[in-house]
Amino acid sequence: MSRIRILAENVANRIAAGEVIERPASVVKELLENALDAGARSIHIEAESGGKRLIRVIDDGCGMNHDDALLAFERHATSKLQTADDLLSVATLGFRGEALPSIAAISRLRLETRALHEEQGTQVEFSGGRLLNVQPAGVPTGTSISVSDIFYCVPARRKFLKSETTELGHIASLVTHYALAHPEVRFLLKTSSQLILDCAPVDKLSERVYQVFGRQALDELVEISAGPQSVTSTAAELEAGAPVATVGVRGFTSRPEVQRTNRNGIYLFVNRRLVRDRLLLHAIGEAYRNLTPSGVFPVVLLFLELPYADVDVNVHPAKVEVRFRHPQLVHDFTRDALRHALSNARPIPGFPAVRAVAATMAAASSSALASGLLPSSPLSRDTRAIPEPCAGIPAMLRSGGVVAEEPKPSGAHDRAFSGRLGLHSESALDVPIPSQPGAPPTGETPRAETLPGSDAIADLKPLGQVNASFIVAVNGEGLWIIDQHVAHERVLFERHLRARREGELGGQRLLVPTLVELNPRQLATLEQINEELRANGFEADPMAARCVAIHAAPAGIASGDAEKLLFEILDGVARENRVISIESLQAKIAASTACHAAIKINTPLDATKMEWLLSELAKTEYPMSCPHGRPVLLHYSVSEIARAFKRT
Ligand SMILES: Nc1ncnc2c1ncn2[C@@H]1O[C@H](COP(=O)(O)OP(=O)(O)OP(=O)(O)O)[C@@H](O)[C@H]1O
Ligand SMILES: [Mg+2]
Repeated sequence: MSRIRILAENVANRIAAGEVIERPASVVKELLENALDAGARSIHIEAESGGKRLIRVIDDGCGMNHDDALLAFERHATSKLQTADDLLSVATLGFRGEALPSIAAISRLRLETRALHEEQGTQVEFSGGRLLNVQPAGVPTGTSISVSDIFYCVPARRKFLKSETTELGHIASLVTHYALAHPEVRFLLKTSSQLILDCAPVDKLSERVYQVFGRQALDELVEISAGPQSVTSTAAELEAGAPVATVGVRGFTSRPEVQRTNRNGIYLFVNRRLVRDRLLLHAIGEAYRNLTPSGVFPVVLLFLELPYADVDVNVHPAKVEVRFRHPQLVHDFTRDALRHALSNARPIPGFPAVRAVAATMAAASSSALASGLLPSSPLSRDTRAIPEPCAGIPAMLRSGGVVAEEPKPSGAHDRAFSGRLGLHSESALDVPIPSQPGAPPTGETPRAETLPGSDAIADLKPLGQVNASFIVAVNGEGLWIIDQHVAHERVLFERHLRARREGELGGQRLLVPTLVELNPRQLATLEQINEELRANGFEADPMAARCVAIHAAPAGIASGDAEKLLFEILDGVARENRVISIESLQAKIAASTACHAAIKINTPLDATKMEWLLSELAKTEYPMSCPHGRPVLLHYSVSEIARAFKRT
């Protein structure tokens, strides 16, 4: 009996129409989704010449009988929905009945399939949308689809395809994304000469991340896990009948020191569908506010689970966008889940040099598969200070796949910042460590050494200062170096913000008001945020044209610093170039105030002061980075010290 039906016209007309196949990776995406919808436990993908010559996807899913094998190529023929109502809660990756006819129309296609319990399979061949041949075939259960010479009959489109390397990069990126979303399925990707990815089925997402990225990368990630639970904005709103959504989110997010210059390391899945979504990107940005510098982005693997009826998947012809029924709740839930994960783990950066050496060694010792597999330059869009040792899957991941790609921020700030710390290039997530084909580490515990988190800095004992700027301290976890200025900044920032939110912030009156001259833009900004400035202890009143008198400044600010601080806040807000949220404004003011009030570098501190600072730092929620995103502490674990002295 046929499973596939042609959708009624009124249903078909409601489906987001547009271009389905853009490049070889779009073919792979559609075929992969079909295989997953068919319940496959194992999916093999082959790509020749970047998928331009051949793409073959073989699955062990439910397969199709003879009639379905033909029906599948009709437009709007699908087994996945029937009525317009079904469109309101789509549980499968496919639903339009568009993919196979679209692929068949622009290529030479051969389908071999056999449904479970059928004695014989079917082979169907198309060329440029024309049916060439149908015949019985002795094939295993499941489906194999070979797509050759993509766009051969649409030369204008073929011309726009990129180099084989680039197209293969997109395919590899895509397959990797799907492999991450489906750890229970075996994924194999190969070209005519190389095995690119081979992941055996595993139980846990962390094991799949390990298979794909390697252990070093796992060490740089913090696990996220929240819900599924019912959420609403506030209890009061709930009583007032506000919407309640059921949301769950899991995945991984990077430690704050892992910093990218674009969003290509952010992979978002909604009900295991790979999507790009501004709302979720915004929520991630909010979670990292005051933990990383502006203009840099984390690496995130986010899996959001919602009731199907709460997500509209029928909004984009290539199914890469979705619409949420309760966007605000989803946004806030995601932001809080990431924030909690980071606050619970309190990840502390290690000594960059040590980690870099380890990462380079790991990359160098990885299989020959990696070297020369794909040159990283055309694929990577990040700027990196240190050349990469070799290319592999993570390099391909940087090509972004269907994830929204961001232009690099023009400001030099983030590059200068990363250059100073060498973080971009030294992060393991950026160091290519390909999986070992044929020998996936199934069942092996992914982590060998746990990086310090939570209470690791509770009992730091200061030994002294380096250069009157950096405190050297020890505890059972090893050796620590703390930047005294940013440590104090973090302490003051959290204190200031808390006091502001509790309405307990007072200012200190200046003995003599400071008169400052503002430019028109600063004046306009002052008018816009003056109320909030007052709530933060600032009193700045316009005097004559363009002249303002500062009568009071936030506590801890030296009178000579009030003017500089005011300028910094006004210019910082003006630079935003968009309406700034109240939370973001408060955070900006708190960050600037903390920076001006904090102990400076080149300041000798006695033991009591150092002890006080370290114990205050340990009490903060996010001791690992300052409100501008710079690292506060560096850690050298006992085992790293032992290793460096060749004692292990
Ligand atoms: N690998 C497969 N295994 C079993 N059945 C398949 C497979 N690929 C396609 N089919 C069947 O063919 C039908 C048509 O596939 P097609 O990809 O064109 O549409 P769809 O998956 O229903 O929707 P969409 O266009 O959104 O992908 C599917 O509904 C499914 O029943
Ligand atoms: Mg499909």
